[in-house]
Amino acid sequence: MHKVAIIENIHQDGIDLLKENPDFEFEIIEDTSEENLIKVLPKFDACTLRVSKLNEKIMSNCKNLKVISRHGVGYDNVDLNYIKKNNITLLITATANAVAVAEHVIYMMLSISKSNNQFDQEVRIGNFKKNVSSIETLELFNKEILIVGFGRIGQSLIKRCKGFEMKVKIYDPFINKKIIEEFGGQKIENLEEGLKNCDYLSLHVPLTKDTKNLIDYSKLKNMKREAIVINTARGGIINEDDLNKALNENIIFGAGLDVFEKEPIDKNNPLLSNKKILLSPHSATFTNECKSRMSLETTKNIIDFFDNKIDKSMIVKL
Ligand SMILES: NC(=O)c1ccc[n+]([C@@H]2O[C@H](COP(=O)([O-])OP(=O)(O)OC[C@H]3O[C@@H](n4cnc5c(N)ncnc54)[C@H](O)[C@@H]3O)[C@@H](O)[C@H]2O)c1
Repeated sequence: MHKVAIIENIHQDGIDLLKENPDFEFEIIEDTSEENLIKVLPKFDACTLRVSKLNEKIMSNCKNLKVISRHGVGYDNVDLNYIKKNNITLLITATANAVAVAEHVIYMMLSISKSNNQFDQEVRIGNFKKNVSSIETLELFNKEILIVGFGRIGQSLIKRCKGFEMKVKIYDPFINKKIIEEFGGQKIENLEEGLKNCDYLSLHVPLTKDTKNLIDYSKLKNMKREAIVINTARGGIINEDDLNKALNENIIFGAGLDVFEKEPIDKNNPLLSNKKILLSPHSATFTNECKSRMSLETTKNIIDFFDNKIDKSMIVKL
């Protein structure tokens, strides 16, 4: 019998899959404080993981732990050195969430371009068409988007951008030109050049020491005045203070953020009062469809791991 800790509850579909399998028992752990995880995790062979942190202090007590199954694809909340040293396998939901994130990017691009929040507000307060001339709106048609990071989500996004007849440039030094061209994109080698020319920027790289502060004031200040910047990847890839400054100085048109340097975001974070930013609470994957897919893939990965039939694309290579 394998014992699975569900760290933070997941959609019922994934839970039901475990219930149906007699070789597995599970507990849902809602208190994700370091103190509680140190206390409750040692008896488990496997765990699922959403956004809580699994550090060395917690995992050094988990002598039975063989596999961590991330509910998602990012894994900057796991101490990778520790799991590598201790032969713990890390799995991700590789096929479950790209579409939901790509759709969230399109939603943000459209909402900001159409000044949706402002118009909605104006209609509600009785200013029907009164301020129309002072509120700018933009079209996606014929505009250039720069997608930084051409993995699962970047590749899902390009298909949607093509539907809007956008020109797509890709910056990803690790993906070859031919693959990008097959998707109808154009590979660029120089990020600064790409930023200067694009109307939309969307980030789809992991947060690493190389991508931390990848987009800062020095880069933002060379972008077009009508440029819109979207970050659904990880907080910190765009420097938040620099973004706020660039928006306040009218250097760019707007920004959409689903992810933040600190989550939940602090109440006094100046981003919260900046009307040029569209915010969402790390919810790009929260569609009904995606919640079900992610939860099913998360628990199926654990079952497949112990049955020795795990799909290699789900395993993080360390
Ligand atoms: N907002 C959300 O809810 C949400 C959901 C899923 C994923 N994410 C984030 O999105 C990121 C991308 O997800 P994915 O599934 O597309 O990942 P992926 O691993 O399939 O793709 C990442 C791509 O980034 C490229 N890359 C790495 N470093 C780079 C660099 N310095 N410059 C340019 N390209 C670089 C890689 O070559 C790869 O093609 C994840 O790391 C995760 O943090 C967020």
